[in-house]
Amino acid sequence: MIGKWWQEAVFYQIYPRSFKDSNDDGIGDIRGIIEKLDYIKSLGVTALWVCPFYQSPMDDQGYDISDFYKISKDYGSLEDLFQLINELHERKMRLIIDLVLNHTSDEHPWFIESKRSKDNKYRDYYIWQQGNNGKPPSNWESFFGGSVWEYDKKTDEYYMHIFSQKMPDLNWNNKEMRRDMFNMMKWWLDKGIDGFRVDAVSHLNKNWDFPNRPIPKGREYSPCYDEFSNRLGVHERIKEMTEEVFSNYDIVTVGEAGGASIVDTINYCGYHRNEFNMLITFDHCWLDVSDDITYVPEKWTYKKLHLPDLKKSLSKYQVSLYNKAWNTLFWSNHDQPRVLSHYGNDSDAFRLLSAKMLATVLYFMRGTPFIYQGEEIGMTNVYFSNISDYRDVEVFTLYRETVLKNIASKEDILDRVHKRSRDNARTPMQWDDTAYAGFSKVKPWIKVNPNYIDINVKNNLNNMDSLYYYYQKIFKIRQDTKAFIYGKYALYLEDDPNIFMYTRTYKNECYLIIVNFFKHYIHLQVPNQLVNENAFIIISNYEGQRLNTKLYLRPYEAIVYCLN
Ligand code: GLC
Ligand code: CA
Repeated sequence: MIGKWWQEAVFYQIYPRSFKDSNDDGIGDIRGIIEKLDYIKSLGVTALWVCPFYQSPMDDQGYDISDFYKISKDYGSLEDLFQLINELHERKMRLIIDLVLNHTSDEHPWFIESKRSKDNKYRDYYIWQQGNNGKPPSNWESFFGGSVWEYDKKTDEYYMHIFSQKMPDLNWNNKEMRRDMFNMMKWWLDKGIDGFRVDAVSHLNKNWDFPNRPIPKGREYSPCYDEFSNRLGVHERIKEMTEEVFSNYDIVTVGEAGGASIVDTINYCGYHRNEFNMLITFDHCWLDVSDDITYVPEKWTYKKLHLPDLKKSLSKYQVSLYNKAWNTLFWSNHDQPRVLSHYGNDSDAFRLLSAKMLATVLYFMRGTPFIYQGEEIGMTNVYFSNISDYRDVEVFTLYRETVLKNIASKEDILDRVHKRSRDNARTPMQWDDTAYAGFSKVKPWIKVNPNYIDINVKNNLNNMDSLYYYYQKIFKIRQDTKAFIYGKYALYLEDDPNIFMYTRTYKNECYLIIVNFFKHYIHLQVPNQLVNENAFIIISNYEGQRLNTKLYLRPYEAIVYCLN
């Protein structure tokens, strides 16, 4: 299947709270997005994914929704959103919005009702269970740390929350609840949006036997995510959604499914599965976690990246999805550390080179590019020295479960937060070098990264060699060259620890992508069959060098050759 608009699109992800504050209350908003549409479009972007802007107590920055039909007053009004849709459509751009199905806020009227009594009409909209001799129904660990169960005194039962306590999980076995959710989806689609990014959808089906599972040494709960992730029953739910809702509209749907294997992925978004069009998975984002989970969940652990692991991970999706399903291509989002600090090098000397290398290696692959706000100007992680400067509930639960329980030192936890926290991606967008980075005229809800003086949109736009123009060039090349969209992928030098090299082939065109992933100089022997006298450079992050059987690659050097 080829030729769908979403296969040729370039998505830009916006975290509204941190993008642009239009009314100077320190919080980004919808009108702020509207102000910057021309900036985004000129990057070569054709569609936006905007993170949740619904009414919410903001325990998880809006993923905890208390009214699906209202816009949070932090972000504006429904009229603002309709204007955003219109302004996008006038620019021939599209909008997808976050659809959060797994849970609501505990302040949602359904949950308030559900808590009242065991026979309340909404009781069964959520997952309530009796305790086990004074203990929670199972020993499962929540993604945000602590138990997935929260005790409720009033009815003497526990409710399940796989994220924070303020995000009770919905019961997708309940038919009325499903019907209410389908109506909500239709309501949004009728407003003219072009699709959904479907949040945490792999968790809609749980193991209702709630078995206890082994607890790793030194820990209190069992991180047995498979009890509530990617279980086969989830596909029935998605198929029903497609039938009842999605299939009646010309839209794109992108599911988010952490931990999905290749088989799962093809089940979720295979061309003929009647589920999603694309899937967001995270295999390639977590290749530098270690198995030392003695006192913190895996995501807070760290080891050095072994490049062949990354090649294997990305290539496996490139190869297995060919002719079966369509890839998403992304390094960053609002849940990941900044890729430049994570897999690149955020020191002054190598920032620009490594950022261009990361863009080159990913965005010439097969699939639809998703780029996260600030990635195009080289924003980096932030290194706050006080826990109180952080805003993410996940950081607070980590702190509560470790430092406050005397399990780890403050310094240790802070170091982990510097490397891994989601707040790395959530500091305000750096527009210029004025106070608060031009994001707002007042103190923002989360501190600006102090490096905004150098790293900002204004500097990028004033320098033709900047990362911004490099991204613009990549997206232009993709748009002009079908081979980069639809071409077949082949990896070379699979086990080489420094070089990432692959080809894209389409009809009689062939392109060769070579990057040096690290800081040292590397002698590279290019396989003979790829070397050809007429090869020429399409894009590179240094003064280019001719293709030869012997190449000497400089730190983070990235080159794309046309071999025809
Ligand atoms: C998704 C979102 C994340 C959120 C979680 C719960 O993973 O991307 O930000 O915390 O779901 O909604
Ligand atoms: Ca505002």
